[in-house]
Amino acid sequence: MLNCKDITVSFGGLVAVNNMNLLVEKGSIHALIGPNGAGKTTLFNAITRIVDVDSGEITFENINILSKKPFEIINYGIVRTFQNLKLSPYQTIKDNIITALTYKYKGNVFSSVFRSYSRFLKEAEEIAFNSAKIFGIQNRMNSYIGALPYGILKKVELARALAVNPKLLLLDEPAAGLNTDEKKELDDILLKLKSMGITILLVEHDMNLVMRISDLVTVMDFGKFIARDKPEQISKNEDVIKVYLGNSYDIRNK
Ligand SMILES: Nc1ncnc2c1ncn2[C@@H]1O[C@H](COP(=O)(O)OP(=O)(O)OP(=O)(O)O)[C@@H](O)[C@H]1O
Ligand SMILES: [Mg+2]
Repeated sequence: MLNCKDITVSFGGLVAVNNMNLLVEKGSIHALIGPNGAGKTTLFNAITRIVDVDSGEITFENINILSKKPFEIINYGIVRTFQNLKLSPYQTIKDNIITALTYKYKGNVFSSVFRSYSRFLKEAEEIAFNSAKIFGIQNRMNSYIGALPYGILKKVELARALAVNPKLLLLDEPAAGLNTDEKKELDDILLKLKSMGITILLVEHDMNLVMRISDLVTVMDFGKFIARDKPEQISKNEDVIKVYLGNSYDIRNK
């Protein structure tokens, strides 16, 4: 579904992603792991066309997406969340989700399924509500973001991404900052999204979560590809163990 081939991204002299390969199968949960600074977020930024790529090829459902703009990427069905939440604190949950949908109205007025703004709003509210319901936050639609606990905000970000109707969801550290119960809940949420037919590419440092829910894992370090395998094989892979030695995240015994 998503195929990144020989991707290199550099910032001045620093090569953040170095000839990296990543292949994500449709319908799967694919984890992208590696130590801090490995280049995971930069690869996400390359896929969503936020950073320029020096060389390589990225195709999504066999379409070359390297020449596309970020808003075109969304139209193809690639939607992401950010490592640092990007929600508007002075807006409600509902408005945050609806804001994400306005590109449909503005971007393509004539062929839009939303014929008038009032109709758009009505439909957008319904989409926002249904999306929030998946995460159990539909009763808090009018709460302001700035007043909500972190665990809820993570759900708002997921609900907003889901509202856009993604084929491929890129999640950058969805478990970061969550407590143990919230992480377990995240397992169920991600598996539910998968059962809805959404493909998930996940950057995550929580190895327990990665090992529990991923179909395949790709490991990178210093911008480079290290391994791609099933979770149980990855945790035994010598090259992967070397990458994690001396690191606070122990890949083994998880
Ligand atoms: N905009 C930028 N300008 C300069 N250097 C950058 C930029 N973005 C990332 N880098 C550098 O690129 C390297 C890879 O960073 P990146 O954020 O992709 O790592 P990561 O794997 O997501 O790490 P983490 O697990 O800590 O989030 C790091 O050395 C980082 O300092
Ligand atoms: Mg990162």
